[in-house]
Order: sequence, then structure tokens, then C-alpha cells
Amino acid sequence: MEIKKPCILAIDDIQDNLTSLKAVLQDALPEFKLLTALDGKSGIALAQAEDPDVILLDIVMPGMDGFAVCRKLKADAELSQTPVVFLTALKTDQESRVRALEVGAEGFLAKPLDESELIAQIRAMVKIKAANRRQRMEKEELSALVAERTRELEKELAERKRAEADLEESEERFELAMNASNDGLFDWDLKTNAIYYSPGWKKMIGYEDHELPNDFSVWEKTTAPEDVKKSWELQQKLISKQIDRFVLEFKMNHKDGHWVDILSRAKAIFDYKGKAIRIVGTHTDISERKQAEQRLKQSTDELSRLYRASGALLTSASPNLENLAQAIVKAVLVEFEHTNCSLILVQPNSDLLDRVAVTGPYADEVAQSELRLSGPGLVPDVIQTGGIINLPDVTTNPSYVSNWKSAHSEIAVPLKVGERVIGVIDLQSEEPDAFSEQDERLISSFAARAALAIENARLFSSSKHRLKRLVSLREIDKAIIGSFDLRISLNVLLEHLRSHLNVDAAAVLTYQKNIQTLTFSHSQGFRTAALQHTNLRLGKGYAGKVALERSKIAIPDLKQDESGFLESPYLKNEGFRVYYGLPLIAKGELVGVLEIFHRSALKLDDEMEDFLSALTGQAAIAIDNINLFSDLQRSNMDLELAYHATIEGWAKALEMRDMETEGHSRRVVNLTMEIALRMGLSSSEQVHIRRGALLHDIGKMGVPDNILQKPGKLTEEEWVIMRLHPVFAYNWLSPIQYLRPALDIPYSHHERWDGAGYPRGLKGEQIPLASRIFAIVDVFDALSSDRPYRKAWSEEKALEYIQEQSGKHFDPQVVDVFLPMVARQ
Ligand code: C2E
Ligand code: SIN
Ligand code: SIN
Ligand code: SIN
Ligand code: FE
Ligand code: FE
Repeated sequence: MEIKKPCILAIDDIQDNLTSLKAVLQDALPEFKLLTALDGKSGIALAQAEDPDVILLDIVMPGMDGFAVCRKLKADAELSQTPVVFLTALKTDQESRVRALEVGAEGFLAKPLDESELIAQIRAMVKIKAANRRQRMEKEELSALVAERTRELEKELAERKRAEADLEESEERFELAMNASNDGLFDWDLKTNAIYYSPGWKKMIGYEDHELPNDFSVWEKTTAPEDVKKSWELQQKLISKQIDRFVLEFKMNHKDGHWVDILSRAKAIFDYKGKAIRIVGTHTDISERKQAEQRLKQSTDELSRLYRASGALLTSASPNLENLAQAIVKAVLVEFEHTNCSLILVQPNSDLLDRVAVTGPYADEVAQSELRLSGPGLVPDVIQTGGIINLPDVTTNPSYVSNWKSAHSEIAVPLKVGERVIGVIDLQSEEPDAFSEQDERLISSFAARAALAIENARLFSSSKHRLKRLVSLREIDKAIIGSFDLRISLNVLLEHLRSHLNVDAAAVLTYQKNIQTLTFSHSQGFRTAALQHTNLRLGKGYAGKVALERSKIAIPDLKQDESGFLESPYLKNEGFRVYYGLPLIAKGELVGVLEIFHRSALKLDDEMEDFLSALTGQAAIAIDNINLFSDLQRSNMDLELAYHATIEGWAKALEMRDMETEGHSRRVVNLTMEIALRMGLSSSEQVHIRRGALLHDIGKMGVPDNILQKPGKLTEEEWVIMRLHPVFAYNWLSPIQYLRPALDIPYSHHERWDGAGYPRGLKGEQIPLASRIFAIVDVFDALSSDRPYRKAWSEEKALEYIQEQSGKHFDPQVVDVFLPMVARQ
């Protein structure tokens, strides 16, 4: 087996990218050869020529894009198992990652590249490729072996046959052989019906010459009955000249009981009248040749069965461990009846053995039983020793652990990758001594290939999982950044947590620093409301302990933990077995506790632990963000209240000076808001309209009492000053940042639709909508109120006036909303 230098192929349309990649890889992976291509088409051609171990692929390229290239590679029978990792700066979004998975990529890295991540991925991918290559070579070797064995045995057979044919060839030799005493000869006189058997004939079936008479009964007794019949028929044909000689294979019973394969040749001898007078012939012992034939058939059968079964393992395109295990036990079981077959795997960091697949007529019974690495049983023995155990009778063996009452014999064969035992193929049969040496050989050759396929599937799924987890972390990040609602962020987070770690329930408690209390925030997977009223003081309950000590707690079996830490009595009804509590710490401050609950045994591997710690980091950030946000919101709210009070104070002061009727401001505000709502103004605009309406006449603060409170009509000079009140408002309020968006109404409420208003003489839709709305409300309210210069008008008269001014003073569209609204009230 030639060992090839490992090779990376990078496909990217930008030469600079390739150059810098080259620099990185030369430093970190000097043992690798790097090939490069500047477009998809030449990249694929290069891959076909060089069979790289891993392909790094850009997405955005002219001509064929990376997805199309990946699809082409995965459709190529030779390259489909070559891992592809996308490297991209532009397409880092969720959809692209999902597409990458869809087109079959094994990895996805966004630029700027994390070099150590890149190197780690390449190393993992190369392992996958090496396992694939090893499997393919084994498969090729295996078929070569079958072919060679077949050729050898066929040659041997052909030689024997030729030798026998040579013998037959010469009549002379045949006559000679008649006299050679060691050969098996017979001579039957048809006239007297006497028969002569040579001593060699008798020796062939284990007798001395003197032990047997020369008598037909000897032949009839020692020959298999169906063969006697065949032979009689042929002899009749010889006598009647239908044939002139025959060759027949048959079996005779040896003195010691075994069967001897005999080749019989015979011919008839005729007198001058053409009448048959004798039949003469030879017997040759062909047992050895028969056995060779049998051996060939058996060994070819064995090899080809193995070949077919392992073919099924190697061709599965995207190996999934459960399906693979199922395929393995099914393939093995095809060979046996009344048998159960289990595939049992050693689990990392666990004493419990995982019965991944079991099939057979009693599978349900077998599936119940639990096996432990440190416990008793044949399977644990095989894992410890690495050797095959084949027990013809389990009922008498002390190591055997019964999991099926009718088991009688059992064979357990290790699954090995190199020297490491990763599991066992275990067969149990109802029959005693069910597994022959040949079965043992077959199962163990098959197990070697199955072990590789399993290892490959595991490598493959761990790199797929890693990618999916990365995608999850990104999604959670997005949810945290995009939302100020803790419920949404934590829901997304708990969903990913539960699906990746496969746990039943999880909850987040947030920490209120001022009262030193943990409060229930969010949960998923609970059957009851057990946790929802949780308020734990620091140090109380599991969570309180996690918070106080700021360190993780893991309780593998809650039912055995009598520490009394469980504060919530309802939690007992949930049937949880495993508990994990993890502190959530942001910027060195405790912000909460993440709790995980599971109803059966739970084992987190290193990768899962890493993922979990990434999640706790994110949960802490989510809570911290919300805390920051609500602090900010609170101080905003304080400020807003202060502003509001100030504005109301000003409006009140003005009402008093203007001698308006009490509540004018409130009335105009309410009416204005109602129209604004009906006209579909957004809620952010509404805030400013409210403020603007309250302050609409604030500019009158600059109009002297003698004008503002004058009982009669104003003179032209007085009007000049009065018309300045919107301008005063503008000048005073515009320096206040907070009120600038509210200025439309104070500044423009005396503009007219026909352009004849003041202070700027705006016309039609040049006038802000808020001002057009407010103008109607202001005039209606002014007319309905007593003024120093006149008495209040009746409502009918005021409404008629508004209608009459539609299209002159007022925007007709606003009038059409206003009139029916007031009429209804
Ligand atoms: P205001 O009293 O709040 O009146 C607002 C608007 O309602 C007026 O804007 C006007 O369009 C309408 N309006 C009020 N009363 C009458 C009325 O009797 N007949 C008609 N047709 N419309 C009326 P305008 O005219 O620009 O006045 C602005 C402000 O000037 C008034 O606010 C008020 O403070 C003052 N003002 C207006 N006319 C007189 C007046 O004859 N004598 C005095 N002392 N002040 C006046
Ligand atoms: C014999 O073998 O003794 C009987 C003759 C025959 O083979 O046909
Ligand atoms: C099995 O449970 O499949 C095998 C039992 C044993 O190891 O004896
Ligand atoms: C926990 O939140 O720690 C579980 C509830 C409890 O301890 O009562
Ligand atoms: Fe005004
Ligand atoms: Fe007013």
C-alpha cells in the first residue's frame, strides 16, 4: 500500500486569497501538499486527477459558484467521499450555511479565518478521507483475493482433470491397468454372471482381498442405492450398444463408515457375432479431488458472502450510525436462524455499553438487558481481552449473563480499529454449538470492516454536529442582538440547547442583585408549573447554591441525592433524574443560573460540554443586555415624566394668562389625537403631536396683556404683534432638542389651506398634516368658548363655519374626518 503525501486542494477565483492561504498552511501543516485552482471547472478536473484529502472551496466565483462545484464533486463516484469545506467572506449568512449542508459539504468557515479552526477542520477531514481510502483499498484487496483464490483452485482442478483424461486416453493403458494389482478393477462375465474384483478394488473401501467374496452382493451392499440404480441402467446401455463406454462418479461405503468417492469407467467386450460377453472396468478413488472441489466452493462462498455484506457497508453515502449498525446486524443475521444479533458499542466516558442495534426473533427480550463494561458477561470480557469468544453451551459457563432464557450458544466478536476495541458483534442462538469455525472466520473478517465503517460514521457525524452547533450559536447571537425581549432570546437559546444536548427540560433564573434573589424567567420542557414561582435566596436550592458559589453543580441521580436542596415540592412530580446547574456570569457579575433537567441518565461528552459553556456565555450576555436596556429605559422614563410635567405647567400658565376656559388645552389635545389616530399617524408621531398641541399657543406668552386681553377688536398694529405668536414659539422651543419634532403645531397652526395664513403663508400640503389637523380643532374650540372680545358661539354655528371654510381655511380631507366625528359625540 503506497502512502501518499496528504494533499489539500483550494479553489478560489482570487489569486491573493490562494497566496495567503498557502502561507498559513505552509506554516501550520508543512506535511501537506497544496494544490490550487482559480475556477470551479479546473478545480474539479484537478480533484479528479489528484484525489485530494480535503477540498477548500470559495462560494462566490464567476462561472460555476461554489455550491455548484460542491454538488458536482459529491456526484462523482470517486470524489463523493472527499470532504469539502467552504471558505467564504461574502456568503456567511444562515441560508448559505444551510445550502452548504444541502449540497453535502462537511465544513463551513467564514472569513476572516480563525486559523486554528481551519487547521482543526482540515485535520478532522483528513482523518475521514483516510478512513474512506483505507476502506476502499480493503475492498479492492478483498475482491482481488477472491479472484486469486478462485483462479488457483480452478487451475488445480483443471490439472487433475487433465491427468485423469490422459489416463482414459489410451486403450493400451486401460488394458495394462487391468493387470495392475493396486488399481481397482472388475471383470464381469455376462455368460456365467460371475464377477471378479481385484484386491485393489477391495482395498479402496478398506478390505483385504480375503475378507470379501467376488460376488455382486458386495457391490450392491457397499454402494449408495441411488448409484446402484444409475449404474445398472448404464450397463444395459453398454450391452445393447447404445453406448460403447461410460464414466460414472458414485459413493461407496468404507469399512470404517465414511463415504469414498469413486470414479468408475467401464466398457463391454463383444464376441465375433457382436454379442456382449463381458463388462470390464476400473475404479479410482477421487475423494481427494471431491474434497478440493468442496473446499473451493465453500471458501468462494464464504469470501463472496463477506464481500457482498461489506459492500453494503461501504457504499452507504451519508453514514448514519444507527442505520449503519442496523445494516450490520441484518447482514450478519442473514447467515443464521433462531439467532439474535446485537451490535454493542463502548461509549466514551461511560461504563454503560450501548446496544446500538439488535435484531432477531427475540430482539425485544435481549434489548431489555443492560451491559456494563465493568460488569459480568461475555461481551465485557471480549472488550477487555480483544479476543473472540465462541461458547457452544452458555448454560454451563460462569461468565455468561442471561438476557434471553432460550439462549444456548453464543459467539462474541470484537470490533477493532487498530488495537482499540470499539464494540462487539454478539450472536446468540437457541441451538447448541451453533457457530462453526467457519462462522467465526466469516464474522471476524466482517467485523474488521464493520468497525472501520462505524469509526468513519462517527467521525463524519461529529464534524457535521460541530458545524450544526456553530450555526446554532450564530442563530442565538442573532436573536440576542436583534431583540430587546429576553423571552425571545432565551426561547431560541433553550430550543437549541435542548435539541443539541437532547435534554428533557431547561430553565433560566435571573438574579436580582438588590434583593439577592433568583427569579424564574424562562423554561422549556416542563410538564408542570413546578419552577414558575421560584424565588430563591442566594444559597437556597440547587440554583441558589450555584449562584452563591458561582460554580457548576451536576447531580447524576436526583432520587439518590438526599441533600434536601430541592426547594420546590412540585419538582418531584416531574420525574427528573439528572440535574445540572450552571452560573451565568457577564462581565464578572452573576446575572442568573441556567438549569438543565433530564428524566433518564445523561452523559455529556467533551464537545457537548464546550457547546454548553458557549451557551451559558450567550445566556449571560442576553440577560446582561436586557438589564442594561431596562436601566436605560427606566432613566428615559424618568426624564420623560419630568418633561411632561414641565410642558403641562407651561400650558396651564398660558391658559390663565389667555383667560381661556379651564381645560381648553386638554380638550384640543384629545380632539387632535383622535383625528390623528383616525388619519393613521404612527405612534411615534403621536407623541410629538400631543406635545405640540399642548404648547400650540405658548408663543402668546410674548404678547402683552393689553393686546391679548383686549375686550374689543385688534388694531392693525396690534395684529402685527399677535401674528408673531407662532414665531415666538418657534424661537423659544427650537433650541430644545427634545421638543424640536413637536414644533409643527406651535409654528404652523395659523397657516391656511388657501395660503392666506401666517406666519409663512404656506399653502395646501406644504403645511404639515399635524398643523392642518390642529387648525380645525383650535378654531372649533375658540369659537365654542367665551373670549374677551366676544361671547361663545353655539356648536351648530361653529360646525357650520368649519364646513363653510373647507378648502379655504381648512384641508377638506381633515374636515371630512372631523365633522362626522364631532357630530357623533
Ligand atoms: P384664539 O382666540 O384662540 O382664536 C383662534 C382662532 O380661532 C383665530 O385665529 C380665528 O381663526 C378663530 N376665531 C376665533 N374667534 C373667532 C371669531 O369670532 N370669528 C371667526 N371667524 N374666527 C374666530 P386668529 O384670527 O388668527 O387669531 C389669533 C388669536 O388672536 C386669537 O386666538 C386671539 O387670541 C387673538 N384675537 C383674534 N381676534 C381678536 C380680537 O378681535 N380681539 C382680541 N382681543 N384678540 C383677538
Ligand atoms: C461394480 O463396480 O462392481 C459393478 C460394475 C459397475 O461399476 O458398473
Ligand atoms: C448480550 O447481552 O448480548 C450478551 C450477554 C453476555 O455478554 O453474556
Ligand atoms: C432549583 O431551581 O435549584 C430547583 C428548584 C429548587 O431547588 O427548589
Ligand atoms: Fe394660536
Ligand atoms: Fe388656542
